[in-house]
Amino acid sequence: MNQDPRDFEERWKEKSRQMFDSSEAKKAFQNVFDHNTSETMLKMADQGIIGKMYGVIESGKESVVFLADTPEGERVVVKIYMTRAGNFREMKQYLRGDKRFRNVKDDRRSVINEWTKKEYRNLEKAREVLRCPKPIAVRNNILVMEFIGEGFKPYKKLKEVEIENPDQGYRNVIEAVKKLWQEKKIIHGDLSEYNILVDGEQRPVWIDFSQGVHRDHPEAKELLRRDIDRVADFFEREGADVDPVKDYESMF
Ligand SMILES: Nc1ncnc2c1ncn2[C@@H]1O[C@H](COP(=O)(O)OP(=O)(O)OP(=O)(O)O)[C@@H](O)[C@H]1O
Ligand SMILES: [Mg+2]
Repeated sequence: MNQDPRDFEERWKEKSRQMFDSSEAKKAFQNVFDHNTSETMLKMADQGIIGKMYGVIESGKESVVFLADTPEGERVVVKIYMTRAGNFREMKQYLRGDKRFRNVKDDRRSVINEWTKKEYRNLEKAREVLRCPKPIAVRNNILVMEFIGEGFKPYKKLKEVEIENPDQGYRNVIEAVKKLWQEKKIIHGDLSEYNILVDGEQRPVWIDFSQGVHRDHPEAKELLRRDIDRVADFFEREGADVDPVKDYESMF
């Protein structure tokens, strides 16, 4: 087994020197993460899951997203959930209502770890019916997934591009919402022009599945309606003809 007798601090110091691309990248990590997260990173590095860590792509309320490489040089994204930040109570509610995660323990660390796992599981399911990052590994509060972009640049968000065909864009998203709901029995839960990236041909790639819940969740229908409404609002502003009420009803 991987039993290195040296203590954690020493090994982390050495490993992090090798893996962080720059002192800025390392600082960005050390500013927000605790001892446990460093330990998890070290494990994932030892297991050959994470090789190099570049800088931060974006940091949100609950997580920080890093660009990284596997030891084989495959570009990936490392999304790390902060154990201190985030709306912990709301997260617990989301988890408890979802039959896949009903038994989550009460403490902060367990909730964050299950939250991270939930995003992994949602990505696994969603991939079968729409385009989203392939989940690669999850351990505690760290999720590794396929990088959606080119070189060092993530694809643009729907929000940031000139929409060529808003009617068709809207239909595509609604069809994907329906497949996710009817065939995979989950919803995205935070769908909007910020969580859909688009490739060079304006094909959508959905990201950020952490809020997604199972169809049986007490709030699932409300979230489904909100997802549809937000997408409809966006495409309507872009000039599409939308009917979110009808589209919502067509889900059942
Ligand atoms: N797999 C990916 N490939 C490329 N870029 C990504 C990927 N995942 C996330 N990103 C980039 O990082 C940004 C933030 O990621 P994401 O939306 O998952 O987190 P967030 O909105 O900060 O979530 P939270 O509110 O849970 O903290 C995205 O808008 C996108 O630009
Ligand atoms: Mg997001």
